[in-house]
Amino acid sequence: MPQFINKHRAWFIILMSIAAFAAVIFFTATDNRLKITRYTVRSEEIPRSFDGATIIQLSDIHGEIPDEAADFLLENTPTALVLTGDTIDERTEDFDNILDLLSKAAERFPVFLVTGNHEQWLDDTENLIERIEKTGARVLDGKTAALALNGETIYISGIPDPAFMDDKLAESALMRQNKITAEKDGFNILLFHRADMLDCFDNSGYDLILSGHLHGGQIRVPLIGGVLSPNGKWLPDYSGGIYELNGGAVGISNRGLTNSTGLPRIYNRPEAVLITLRRK
Ligand SMILES: [Fe+2]
Repeated sequence: MPQFINKHRAWFIILMSIAAFAAVIFFTATDNRLKITRYTVRSEEIPRSFDGATIIQLSDIHGEIPDEAADFLLENTPTALVLTGDTIDERTEDFDNILDLLSKAAERFPVFLVTGNHEQWLDDTENLIERIEKTGARVLDGKTAALALNGETIYISGIPDPAFMDDKLAESALMRQNKITAEKDGFNILLFHRADMLDCFDNSGYDLILSGHLHGGQIRVPLIGGVLSPNGKWLPDYSGGIYELNGGAVGISNRGLTNSTGLPRIYNRPEAVLITLRRK
C-alpha cells in the first residue's frame, strides 16, 4: 500500500512540474509588457552639442498606442521623437487619441514622422498629414528637417512608404533616391518604414536609418529571430534589432508596438527604442 501511494505521489509531482513549466513558457512567450530597448550610436559626425542627445523611436502603432508607451513618452524629454510609419491604420476609426498624444509630445520636444504602408492605404493620406501637422509634429515624407542645438545641427530626412510598388520596383527606386536626399556633411538620420529594405541604404550617406514594419517578425524564435513579416515574408531580414550596414551606417529595425495581423506576438514584446547619440 505505501508503495502505491508513493507511485501516485511521484506522478502527481511530475505532472505538476510539467504544468508549472508549461505555464512559465506560456507567460514568458506571450508577455506583452512594453520593452524599452536602449542603443548607443557613435559617430564622428555627431556634433559636440548632440553628444548625449536622445531620440525615442516608436513604430507601428496602428492607431492604438498602449498606455505604457504613451506614459513612457510623456515621462521623458528626448531631444526628438520619431515615428517610423503605420502610426495610423486605414482601419482606425478614431485618430483623436493619437493626435492628442502627438500634440502633447510636440509641445515638449520636436516630433517627426514618416508614413508607412497603412497610412498610404488611407483614402485621403494628404488629409491625415494635414491633421498630423496641425499637432506641431512634422511629416518628413520626401523632406529633410534640420535639428539644431547650441548652433549645431543634425539632419532628419524621411522617405514615404512605397506602398503602391512591388518590392523590386520599390528597391530600385530607393537605390536611385537614397543618395540624393542625404545631406553630404553632418550627421544624417533617415526615417523609412520598411526595415526589410535596409540594404538599399548601403553607402547612401545616411549615418542612421530608423525603420519598422516587420513587427519583429511577429513570432520570434531564440537564435533565429522573427518568423513572419506582416506581409507574409518568412524569416525576414532585419526583423528586429540594430545592424551595421555596408558603408558603416547603422540601421535600426523597431519591433513596433502592436500587431495588425491578428497573430499573437510570441517572444516579441512591444518595443520603444531609446537611442543615445555619442560623438566618437
Ligand atoms: Fe505595421
